[in-house]
Amino acid sequence: MRTVLRLAVYPGSFDPPTLGHLDVIERAAKLFDRLIVGVGVNSAKTPLLSADERMEALRRSTAHLDNVEIEAFSGLLVNYAQDRGARVIVRGLRATADFEYEFQMAMVNRRLASEVETVFLVTKWEHSYLSSSIVREVALLGGDYRGLVPEAVAELLEVALAHRGVS
Ligand code: PNS
Repeated sequence: MRTVLRLAVYPGSFDPPTLGHLDVIERAAKLFDRLIVGVGVNSAKTPLLSADERMEALRRSTAHLDNVEIEAFSGLLVNYAQDRGARVIVRGLRATADFEYEFQMAMVNRRLASEVETVFLVTKWEHSYLSSSIVREVALLGGDYRGLVPEAVAELLEVALAHRGVS
């Protein structure tokens, strides 16, 4: 039976969302009728931005994409994807360094739910060095993170850092 891939989930920590994440979202939004961006909530981790802040940052950055929704999720990713009726998980690949972790995650997810496929999208060359952890480090050390994150994220990040006494 032919499967029409209409709905995909793009999960991540997005702490904060970067231009690389936005690039993957824009690419995925063209491939699928509907894209749900799932912000992972992990109670064992203390993120820089709260789940609400990350979701707001993503909502503002994707306001131009009418088939993209932003949600939070906790627990197993495959359970979340299945609850939403999605058979595709989208992940971005920047460089070969990402591959081992992504391969492991895709294999575990396939073992947990064989009908859910992981689809990898390759980010733009100019975003291939970007990561949330690099942006966090630059931001926390007072460096200029504009140009690494979408404008809306930079604005929210500035407010969030000021609230935390970092400027
Ligand atoms: O942006 P990240 O930090 O690489 O995203 C990681 C995320 C949130 C997608 C991953 O940690 C995840 O899927 N968490 C949910 C828990 C889970 O399903 N674990 C098993 C798969 S490895």
